[in-house]
Amino acid sequence: MRAHKSERHFTIQTSQPPVQVPFLNLAAQYAALKDETLQAVEKVLAGAHYILGPNVAAFEQEIATYTGARFGIGVNSGSDALTLALRALEIGPGDEVITTPFTYIAPAESIHQMGAKIVFADINPRTFLIDPQAVAKKTSARTKAIIPVHLFGQAASMDELQALAKPRGIHLVEDCAQAVGSTYLGRGVGSIGRLGCFSFYPTKNLGADGDGGMVVTNDEALAKKLKMLRVHGIERRYYHDLHGYNSRLDELQAAILRVKLPRLNGWNARRATIAARYSAGFAGLPIELPVTAPGNSHVFHVYAILSDLRDELQKFLTDRGVPTLIYYPQPLHRQKVYEDLGYSEGDFPVAEAVSRRILPLPMYPELTDEQVDYVATRVREFFGK
Ligand SMILES: Cc1ncc(COP(=O)(O)O)c(C=O)c1O
Repeated sequence: MRAHKSERHFTIQTSQPPVQVPFLNLAAQYAALKDETLQAVEKVLAGAHYILGPNVAAFEQEIATYTGARFGIGVNSGSDALTLALRALEIGPGDEVITTPFTYIAPAESIHQMGAKIVFADINPRTFLIDPQAVAKKTSARTKAIIPVHLFGQAASMDELQALAKPRGIHLVEDCAQAVGSTYLGRGVGSIGRLGCFSFYPTKNLGADGDGGMVVTNDEALAKKLKMLRVHGIERRYYHDLHGYNSRLDELQAAILRVKLPRLNGWNARRATIAARYSAGFAGLPIELPVTAPGNSHVFHVYAILSDLRDELQKFLTDRGVPTLIYYPQPLHRQKVYEDLGYSEGDFPVAEAVSRRILPLPMYPELTDEQVDYVATRVREFFGK
């Protein structure tokens, strides 16, 4: 049940000049936490409770509390969190689920895995978040759920989506993979919809040293069902009441994540500081800077600019030791795997235009001010400023 993601291991191979500002630097985070991490790992190994042990239980409670939800259910990945969430809601053939075409593929995959129909709705050109008006146009009597993705670190317009969903009995399943710690009108993402799905993929704001994910919910019955679904549909060992999965958050990963969680707010604050420093450095340039929607606190999983000269700028930066990675270069409705959905170029013009113009820049808490300034100076140089 693992998404194919080889392209996301960001060791960028290049015969270019020496890298001045790595696109990511997971080793720096490990170095800072090495002693505590090794102690936590050693304790799990010595305790020999490797599956669904005390760290998973404690971490589920800690994430639930952190997000403001009542229950947390640790699963194997963010992709599985979405799949199990849709399964728990009994979404299946004949149902439609609306999501964004401008995101990582996992939410669309989870819909497909249920045998339901993937329905895309276009995005806002400045926040890149799903546009509630576009969602309204795609809503039908068959719509059973909406998966808003809190892309790049800020929440989709949950109030407008709720207003659309609630009277029609449509479930909101929040994809919080990129937004752990962000809030919408003061509420933690994940705790607002019926279910909230998190990823602890290593590059996320709260990243494990391997795969990991979590579903949070305020609904006790759904929490119970999810706990069964992740272990082959059992409540009692060897008695299977549901068609389930093997999708558990690993005890070792939970122990490592518990070392990191107390640092998350500090890391997210540092990301916001870096974002502000980039934006100040880019003032006056003919590019579009990230926008935080009203009511949101943004945790800047990604800091991305828009430029008509994106490809030239990317090359200019690479040549000066600033490798970058474009996501997402191809919106989901244009992916080969979804050809049978019958979408074509022009169906989601905003997502398509953003895909052509977007350039994510290095963004992680360990970036120094000097590195941020180096990037900003190179971008200014490109524009002759
Ligand atoms: C928006 C979004 N949803 C879901 C996922 C899936 O998470 P995972 O890689 O843990 O399966 C990711 C991350 O990779 C993501 O960015």
